[in-house]
Amino acid sequence: MKVRVLLLGCGNVGRGLCSLLAEKREAIAAKYELEVLLAGVATRTRGCAYAPGGIDPRDVLSGAAFGAARAAEETAMDLVERGEYDVLAECTVTNPETGEPGLSYIRAALGRGKSVATSNKGPIALRFHELLSLAKENGARLMYEGTVMAGTPLFSAAGPGFLGADVLSFEGVLNGTCNYMIERMKTGATFDAALSEAQTEGYAEAEPGNDLDGWDTALKAMILAQSFLGYPSVSLGDVDVEGICGLTPGAVSDAAKRGGAIRLIASAERPRTGATARPRISVRPRFIGADHPLASLPGTANGIVFSTDTTGQVCFTGLGAGGPQTAFALLRDIIDISGNAR
Ligand code: HSE
Repeated sequence: MKVRVLLLGCGNVGRGLCSLLAEKREAIAAKYELEVLLAGVATRTRGCAYAPGGIDPRDVLSGAAFGAARAAEETAMDLVERGEYDVLAECTVTNPETGEPGLSYIRAALGRGKSVATSNKGPIALRFHELLSLAKENGARLMYEGTVMAGTPLFSAAGPGFLGADVLSFEGVLNGTCNYMIERMKTGATFDAALSEAQTEGYAEAEPGNDLDGWDTALKAMILAQSFLGYPSVSLGDVDVEGICGLTPGAVSDAAKRGGAIRLIASAERPRTGATARPRISVRPRFIGADHPLASLPGTANGIVFSTDTTGQVCFTGLGAGGPQTAFALLRDIIDISGNAR
């Protein structure tokens, strides 16, 4: 079986997906009887490449795939609306306020009955229920493993995993950049030096303000609340957000001396039946004791603790930020959508 992928966005994540496709082509074919073909790629700076018969992902990485006259005239939306493909892999830059342009691309693909795998937090956080309904109406699938704790299979594990249980609340460390910076400050780095390292390593967003001010974490918490806690559609106004800009290396090392850690923690609870007030989500730096499951997360690690009515606490930890990790999440969603996973 073949699955033709249209890739939108060729930054760290898109390039990571191309690398994975190049590396794992034969292994995926052998394991899943699946040929993942790259039918098209749209970039912000080099235009588009389009060949429904398949583009060599190594040519995307080298740049050789770009420049053909026909594709050069196409826009990303032309490809989404008229291209021949089976899955849209959408990893354009997140806009936390509008979700655009990813939101329009995802709507257009789902409207054509094309399935979508996305790592773009904006559209999923802001239009979660609308997009899932659109997918259902059009017989398509919408998968978003790459939006939260990308290198850790969270939705695919905890979604089906908690069938029959009610998730009552979660607490999560969801931003790798902030965790990395807090850990570096603990060992003596200044705030600015820690940020600059996180940017060099490619963990921080294009606009690192969204990491530091807590908005990246807020979007992820909105996705989790709608996905696991039965929240209705939420907006950024439903989140009480405080980031890490007020943290100093002194405060971070004091927390360690007190036997715990400071973490930027997102939390939310399942809305009570019959409650009239809109449910709130919280994102803020908190001191937690050493016995808290999120206290010892190293480097860019993310973690989440779910409380459910039947299981008590269940904790997932793993990598969140990074091109290769997020590319993995897109690849797993593409394989899942193809129906050949086993
Ligand atoms: N900038 C984000 C982080 C990337 O540091 O977690 C993953 O969403």
